[in-house]
Amino acid sequence: MRTIAIVSATGGAGRTTLTAELASLLAARGQRVLAVECDPRNVLALHFGLRESARDGLVSHLAGHADAWANAALQSDDGVLVLPWGSEDGTTDAATSAALDARPHWLHDLLARVDLPREAIALIDCTAWPSPHARQAIDAAEFVLAVVTPDATACATLPRLQAALRRAGRHSAFVTNAVVPARALHTDIVALLRARLGAAMLPYVIHADTGVPAALASGEGFCLNTPESQAAHDLNGIASWLLHWANPPAEDASMPAQPVQRAQGAAP
Ligand SMILES: Nc1ncnc2c1ncn2[C@@H]1O[C@H](COP(=O)(O)OP(=O)(O)OP(=O)(O)O)[C@@H](O)[C@H]1O
Ligand SMILES: [Mg+2]
Repeated sequence: MRTIAIVSATGGAGRTTLTAELASLLAARGQRVLAVECDPRNVLALHFGLRESARDGLVSHLAGHADAWANAALQSDDGVLVLPWGSEDGTTDAATSAALDARPHWLHDLLARVDLPREAIALIDCTAWPSPHARQAIDAAEFVLAVVTPDATACATLPRLQAALRRAGRHSAFVTNAVVPARALHTDIVALLRARLGAAMLPYVIHADTGVPAALASGEGFCLNTPESQAAHDLNGIASWLLHWANPPAEDASMPAQPVQRAQGAAP
């Protein structure tokens, strides 16, 4: 199973939206997809049409119910296997964070036990970095897609995230979400990020679309319902890029599709 973490250094950047939309798009192309939620908000399943928060999930394992997490995965209507975080009844945020910090490879080791074929793709949603949940997602992933919004805070926090990804030795790429091209600030920041990140920046931006939150409110997938929108086109481009990364042509099978940022000094 190929594992991709979707991270950001700011809250509300679009991590959960991207996880759900990309998972649905990949599944629509016949790919086996697992969408994993490493976030105590426990909302990922809502993006797949579930109306109530899931009870069991990854946190069940953390809470000592060894097998409950394995039966917690839900099959969405569009063919994605969704592994929610679950509800944290009876435990505190501090206790969960301490448990995650004490077991830095917990999520990696759990996902290694998931019985899916090698070509399946797991997309991992998490809390904003830095956090114990985001560190677990990065540790569990072989590739990190970092979401950046076109604002000053996202730009200011980017170098720390880049440094953390380099330290973790993870391939990574960056994408800007919720871009309004008519706003000069947005186009300026996208240009700045391209200059700063170079080939590590995906050739796509994801445009802002009011249909994205509206689709969530009505329990529908945005891309599958509005495939003609610019944002759906952008997300389709990223899904293609991820598919190429996961299934590279034979001649570059040992290499991730570029553009990526790689840890300095790490083996090729
Ligand atoms: N391209 C977009 N255009 C318009 N709205 C968007 C876009 N992407 C995400 N949103 C909206 O932005 C809000 C935050 O998105 P989302 O919950 O996916 O972010 P997140 O990074 O997971 O946030 P959190 O830190 O709360 O986990 C949601 O209301 C979502 O519908
Ligand atoms: Mg989220």
